[in-house]
Parts: sequence; C-alpha cells; structure tokens
Amino acid sequence: MKQFEGRVAVVTGAASGIGRELAIACAERGMKLVLADVDVEGLSAVTEAMPGGIAVRTKHCDVSGFEAVQDLADLAFGEFGNVHLLFNNAGVAALGPVWSATPEDWKWVLGVNLLGVANGIRSFVPRMIAGGEDGHIVNTSSGAGLTAVAGSGIYCASKHAVVALSECLLKDLEIAGSKLRVNVLCPSLVRTAIADSDRHRPAHLASTNPDSAPFDRRVRAGMAASDLSAAEVASMTMQAICDDDFYILPHPAVRLRVEERLRNIIGDHRHHKPDNLVTTTDGP
Ligand SMILES: NC(=O)c1ccc[n+]([C@@H]2O[C@H](COP(=O)([O-])OP(=O)(O)OC[C@H]3O[C@@H](n4cnc5c(N)ncnc54)[C@H](O)[C@@H]3O)[C@@H](O)[C@H]2O)c1
Repeated sequence: MKQFEGRVAVVTGAASGIGRELAIACAERGMKLVLADVDVEGLSAVTEAMPGGIAVRTKHCDVSGFEAVQDLADLAFGEFGNVHLLFNNAGVAALGPVWSATPEDWKWVLGVNLLGVANGIRSFVPRMIAGGEDGHIVNTSSGAGLTAVAGSGIYCASKHAVVALSECLLKDLEIAGSKLRVNVLCPSLVRTAIADSDRHRPAHLASTNPDSAPFDRRVRAGMAASDLSAAEVASMTMQAICDDDFYILPHPAVRLRVEERLRNIIGDHRHHKPDNLVTTTDGP
C-alpha cells in the first residue's frame, strides 16, 4: 500500500511507545485515526501531539476482550466507512524462568499479546475484505517471536504465536483472493514503557512471581542501551508497508539470531554456537 492520505488507520496500544509513534506516523501521512488503549489519559496526550486537522477518534479498549474489540471495529467502520491499516500492537510482558510463571501471568500475557491480535483479526478483517480496498494488517510481534530469550518464556510463546498467526493470515488472504496484505513487526529492545507494563495489569491477574526481578533489571538495562527509538521503528514499519515487506526486523542482530536458530533446526551445525539461543541481554 503506497497511498496513505485520507485513508483510515486503527492502532491498539496507541497511548505509549511504538503504538503512539505508529499513530503519529499515520497522522503525518494524512490518515484518519482510531486509537485504542486501556490508558485513556495517554490517548488524549497522543491526540494532542498530532498535527492539526487530523480526524481522530479514541476509545478505551482492552484488546483481550472480544466484545470490546468488536465495539472498536463498530466505531471505526461506523465513523469512517472502512479501515486500511490495522495495527494489532498492544502488548505486555511478564518475566521469569518458565517454571516460575503463575497462571495469572499466562492468562494476562496470552490474553493481551495473542488473543488481542486474534480479536483484532476476527473483528476487523472480514469487514476489511468486504470493503474491497487494499490495506494491511500489521501485527506487532518481537525479536522474541523468532528466537528464544531466557526469562521470557510466556512472552516468547505469545510472540511466536503472533508470527505464526500472521503467516497463516497471509496465506488465508491469498487463498481468498483478497487485496489485503500482512506485516509482522519483530523489533528487539526499544526504549518504551513496556518494562512497566504492570501499570495497567488487572488486579485479578496481579503479579505474584518474585523470580521476575533479575530479568526485569536486565530488560531495563538493555532498553536503556537500545540504539533505536520507537519513532524510528514506526518509520521503518511505514516503509515496510509501502514496500510490502512481510517481516519487519528493525534490529540487524535479530537477523543473525534467526539465522543461527534456523541452522540449528535444520541440523546445519557448521556455524553452531551452543549459547546462541540463550541471551539475557535481550527481551521484549
Ligand atoms: N519495547 C520493546 O523493546 C519491544 C520489543 C519488541 C516488541 N515490542 C512490542 O511492541 C508493542 C508495543 O509495546 P511498547 O514497547 O510500545 O510498550 P508500551 O508499554 O510503551 O506500550 C504498550 C501500550 O499497550 C497498552 N496496553 C496494555 N495492555 C492493553 C490491553 N489489554 N488493551 C489495550 N491496550 C493495552 C498500554 O497501555 C500501552 O499504551 C507490544 O506488543 C510489545 O510486546 C516491544
């Protein structure tokens, strides 16, 4: 998709970080916007940061709930008639060794990171197909969706699932003869508020895992050292939509780790490095 002006973008998790910058990047390209998040105050702040004259609607929406995402789709199609870019971006992280993860950790992270994307696809894609125009579904996964990261078992499981879902969605759309395309965004660490994602965690799914703390410190240190901003990741994402690049890997280091993982999977040990699958300096 190369034409953005006057078209419609929906961004989940738009109040902060990568979602905020995706929303601003779409506004700078003259798109109409529907922004969703559980952080309503954050959505107001993003709206104020938009260039003037942009049509923006905001909505409280917990993407883990199917009906809430259906309501979001009703708002978007009701207000603007069609949707051309759907960014299933909202995400959270819970850290710690796999065996320390609580049932609440699993429910929260899979609810937001995986069901949030599934709910977005189910609520928007049939109507986008029916609209008959071109467009993209852009799912935010992670470098952790293509590799393994110590202390991030639930997060990696959720993000690997988002990559798989995106790959299947692309095939399903091709078989259906749709004009819609798919991208999956897989960044390594970016300076955002994700290390504080507990800030909007529902009380009934509260964290009780004491083993997350050391990994939390490592993720924060890695983020502080990250050399790509959320705005740069958003800009690369918009370019990938233009170029129809399915996999978006803003960090070159992720490419190397993917290559090593695939060599291990297919049994090509010529370049095998035993420790390459475990990195504690990486994360969300
Ligand atoms: N920051 C990184 O290092 C990094 C790396 C790879 C992938 N990601 C992914 O990028 C996406 C955006 O995260 P970010 O880094 O910008 O973090 P962030 O915390 O700055 O932004 C995430 C946004 O999602 C919102 N959110 C949380 N739960 C929600 C829910 N149930 N429903 C709707 N909105 C909800 C938050 O309120 C927040 O505004 C996530 O999917 C994350 O997993 C981040």
